[in-house]
Amino acid sequence: MDSTGSISGLMPDRIRAFIAVRVPTELREQLIEVQHKLRGLLRNVAWTRPDALHLTLAFLAELQTNSLAGLSGQLAKAAGDTAAFDLEAGDLGSFGDRVIWIGFGRGADELAALAGKVRSLIQGLGVRDQERPFTGHITLGRARQRAAIAQVVAQYRPLPKWARWRVQEMELFRSELLPDGARHSTLGSYELRR
Ligand code: 2AM
Repeated sequence: MDSTGSISGLMPDRIRAFIAVRVPTELREQLIEVQHKLRGLLRNVAWTRPDALHLTLAFLAELQTNSLAGLSGQLAKAAGDTAAFDLEAGDLGSFGDRVIWIGFGRGADELAALAGKVRSLIQGLGVRDQERPFTGHITLGRARQRAAIAQVVAQYRPLPKWARWRVQEMELFRSELLPDGARHSTLGSYELRR
């Protein structure tokens, strides 16, 4: 068993958790540059902090802590059964008039297949179904009030050449909603097959 089994004893009965892929440094720097340009176009947006940029595969609003060890084992198996793959960031997108994100081009099918595996294995844990169908994205910012996000998405073309990204690992994160924003901590890391 990995560390998730031993630390779950210090946690409440249920936690907010998610499974995600961390953004590599070079791409993170490019995304910071894109956020910087967008700041000039959109006001009153909470921009994702650089260290919190990530690609969510599945969200668990309320995960029972006593499921952690089992989930961790299943995630390790799903990762080991999945070949590492190349992924390329793509165009801007939005959820409604609040959330602005970067989507994916090359590798999007492999990404959707991995998210599908992860989502099907967590269905057995008695957690609520995913509220959104999978749309691969990295959230860049969330508007505090309705914003002209759709216009910006339609007009602004981000970088022509994205940093190379090979997805080699996914992580299980705990998310704690604190007064000054969400705090994410890693509960387990799972390597894809090289
Ligand atoms: P995001 O990927 O668009 O940022 C932790 O909160 C992670 O889970 C975030 O990455 C967040 O979205 C995602 N998330 C939060 N609430 C969600 C919900 N209700 N449905 C699906 N994903 C959610």
